[in-house]
Amino acid sequence: MLSARSPVLRAAARSSARMYSSSVAQFTGTKKANGHYTVNLIEGDGIGVEISQAVKDIYKAANVPIDWEPVDVTPSLINGKTTLPKDTVESIKKNKIALKGPLATPVGKGHQSMNLTLRKTFGLFANVRPCKSVVGYKTPYENVDTVLIRENTEGEYAGIEHTVVPGVVQSIKLITREASTRVARYAFEHARSVGKPKVLVVHKATLMKYGDGLFLECVQDVSKDYPDIKVDTELIDNTCLKMVTDPGQYKDCVMVMPNLYGDIMSDLCSGLIGGLGLTPSGNMGDEVSIFEAVHGSAPDIAGKGLANPTALLLSSVMMLRHMGLNDHATKIEKAVLDTIASGPENRTKDLKGDATTQHFTQQVISRL
Ligand code: NAI
Repeated sequence: MLSARSPVLRAAARSSARMYSSSVAQFTGTKKANGHYTVNLIEGDGIGVEISQAVKDIYKAANVPIDWEPVDVTPSLINGKTTLPKDTVESIKKNKIALKGPLATPVGKGHQSMNLTLRKTFGLFANVRPCKSVVGYKTPYENVDTVLIRENTEGEYAGIEHTVVPGVVQSIKLITREASTRVARYAFEHARSVGKPKVLVVHKATLMKYGDGLFLECVQDVSKDYPDIKVDTELIDNTCLKMVTDPGQYKDCVMVMPNLYGDIMSDLCSGLIGGLGLTPSGNMGDEVSIFEAVHGSAPDIAGKGLANPTALLLSSVMMLRHMGLNDHATKIEKAVLDTIASGPENRTKDLKGDATTQHFTQQVISRL
């Protein structure tokens, strides 16, 4: 039983107003003489340009002390390896922080995913994905409040694949003690910092006895250093069923899981609150962090003024909290959520509204 003086409960009280938070790792970027920070901006593909513009307009109106430094992430193949431009790597390493729009990935051929390349290049080992029902936007459930932490560098997305003989392909799921322990520690620290009393490991170690078995073992080992946080385990298929049946039961935990499960499970959670247009994320490393929406480049609506910029805006709110710019974060978060709650005339089409990206943006600005 947790006492009222428990650090977890105290953190819960503190954190109720800062749902969109990622901050366990310290931001060590440099404040310039004018009081501003430089943040790299990767606008991305498809709707990336439109939603990035919305963020820039809102940040300008809110006087956020940030100077954007755009960077190019066009891939090049060096010795068969997908690589980022050198200037981009140097710039992000210097600023230690970036906001990123979605990047399209060729299917079944071509270069490795640039999302994966960014995560590997900067050691972004934990992907934090909070998902919370939006007050004023009705969905079948009104009590969704999940935090999912996805291992971000290996697992099924390690990109180790080869053809054994024509018609037989081997795709290797890589699980290491180092990466599993690192993300597990992040999950416990995050649970403490946002006031969730439990870490839930989601796995399939019944079948992947070695791979998921090692992941599970690492989380359980790390849990010994966090006696104030409970640890529980669940099979991924069971979590999917329980999540769509009654998401409220996951309110009190931080879920941690291997890469692919986290990718799928977080889209599932997005669906419960109204779709991909609403869910943010933070890719966290020891030095660098990159914040991005959970969704992709949405080629079906790109260039039509229909994109919902909320997910990128809330990702930027996570970024501001990570940088310690809490007042700006709270102001923008409130303006965004109030705009959504204000009615269908101010909501984009994905949220059953009539607003264009630009109209939504202006409405947010009017509420700052
Ligand atoms: P998607 O997330 O781009 O789109 C799925 C559906 O959600 C589409 O109907 C789209 O219109 C809608 N949607 C997504 N974001 C929206 C927004 N902000 N406002 C309104 N509607 C929105 O997924 P899809 O189509 O599977 O992938 C398209 C491309 O994006 C692919 O090349 C994929 O690899 C890439 N991708 C990139 C990601 C990243 O950069 N982190 C993540 C996921 C996919």
